[in-house]
Amino acid sequence: MSTPAEIQFKDVDLDAVAALTGTLAVFVAEDGKLDLCARKVNSLSRKALARLVESEKFEKMKAGDVTALTFPAGLAAQTVLVCKLTRRPTALEARKAGAQLAKARGTEELTVLAGNIAKAEEISLGLALRGYSFDSHKTADKPGAGAVTFMVSKPEEVAKAAAPMAAIAEGVFFTRDLTNEPANILTTDDFAARLAAMQELGLEVEILEEDELEKLGMGSLLCVGQGSASPSKVVVMTWNGGGEEAPFALVGKGVVFDTGGISLKPAAGMEDMTMDMGGAGVVAGVMRTLALRKAKANVVGLVGLVENMPSGNAVRPGDVVTSMKGDTIEVINTDAEGRLVLADVMWYAQDRFQPSGMINLATLTGAILVALGHENAGVFSNSDELSKAFIKSAETEGEGAWRMPMGKAYDDLLKSRVADMKNVGGRVAGSITAAQFLQRFVKDDVPWCHLDIAGVASVKSETALAPAGATGWGVMALNRLIADKYEG
Ligand code: BES
Ligand code: MN
Ligand code: ZN
Repeated sequence: MSTPAEIQFKDVDLDAVAALTGTLAVFVAEDGKLDLCARKVNSLSRKALARLVESEKFEKMKAGDVTALTFPAGLAAQTVLVCKLTRRPTALEARKAGAQLAKARGTEELTVLAGNIAKAEEISLGLALRGYSFDSHKTADKPGAGAVTFMVSKPEEVAKAAAPMAAIAEGVFFTRDLTNEPANILTTDDFAARLAAMQELGLEVEILEEDELEKLGMGSLLCVGQGSASPSKVVVMTWNGGGEEAPFALVGKGVVFDTGGISLKPAAGMEDMTMDMGGAGVVAGVMRTLALRKAKANVVGLVGLVENMPSGNAVRPGDVVTSMKGDTIEVINTDAEGRLVLADVMWYAQDRFQPSGMINLATLTGAILVALGHENAGVFSNSDELSKAFIKSAETEGEGAWRMPMGKAYDDLLKSRVADMKNVGGRVAGSITAAQFLQRFVKDDVPWCHLDIAGVASVKSETALAPAGATGWGVMALNRLIADKYEG
């Protein structure tokens, strides 16, 4: 498993600066003013920083940008990274500055001379998040990343503020690893084992195997995995950090690979469907973060783990299956499998836990990519209150989320001639009819959001806080929602 850089917070020791090896980082305000750490580096380096500040190069740098001075005179360090930063950066600006430092340092040992800089803990989070790389399947020698030390004026204070952020970074890394992992490694068994290992952190983890799912009547979920050699599973993770109140439920689509089944997908790009368990990956990452920071909230995370394969045993278009709720479903397209998985897991979550609210996450439709691209996840909800609270949390964390409409006219598109519903609505409004399908498995009094993360879970080019590949989108937003809703 990839682990975020461990970050130490120490007192500022200006006398030690000259002898520090590796890479140093300093911050310079937009007006070019140097703080006490930068002044020290400036005087040791015979005014290299002052020259930078007067240059056109500095003028052209935007807030958060980083430039490198290499082999500066007067310092043992090989590189000084200079970050231009506004005096009162927002949390998101501070994270982006940290991310730029992570990119610029590569794997070199790094001492961040932060002194009195505001939001040093947010800078450390950005640094940790952007330091991710998925290289477990590369055989070349991989230099481990060097240590990171922040020299700050109030180390205890900053370390305290940074502690929950380290939990966030670990949760995000867990989600990214799961989402990046190929399907021959991350089988349903392997996925469940990685979740079971989180019992060490104080989470309760329960694995429901196929025979139990059959007894529960999960014909909708089970039909998806019936063509695969890997057994279908539901994993229940419980974090009881709160009082006696009902838990909040998170439910994730965990299709470890989506070939489309008998409604086979085209070959081009099919390898991307290793990320079709991204919703389950986010649920797992959030549960990990909650456990690591010992959240004072009751949250239950459920994931449906299946593989969608074509075979002689696979579900066929036209088959009718019965969900745990009792409703029958005509499977028109075996590639609309995520909703079949979620329907049963969502019903089970409500039936067993009577949650105070429920959010499900899924890489559910290609149509959401057409609508929102990679910038925003689609938010579908029966509750103005919950959807607003979630979108606000997402905005605070810099994770895009945009509410989409729902309504009876869309729901009507799911009418089936032979069963209670079809699993697809037709050509138009594909993301909305998928959400309508899910809502049929939400009890009326349960505030609910469906997050369609097909466009944001994994991307081809780097984002502000992640390299190309899995982003971990949603871990921070959900962690904040839970913190604000239950721990505020
Ligand atoms: N896993 C896919 C959706 C998806 C597409 C995720 C692209 C990430 C990137 C989902 O199971 C799927 O195949 N959906 C179909 C639904 C259709 C058959 C109604 C789709 O979007 O084409
Ligand atoms: Mn599919
Ligand atoms: Zn899918």
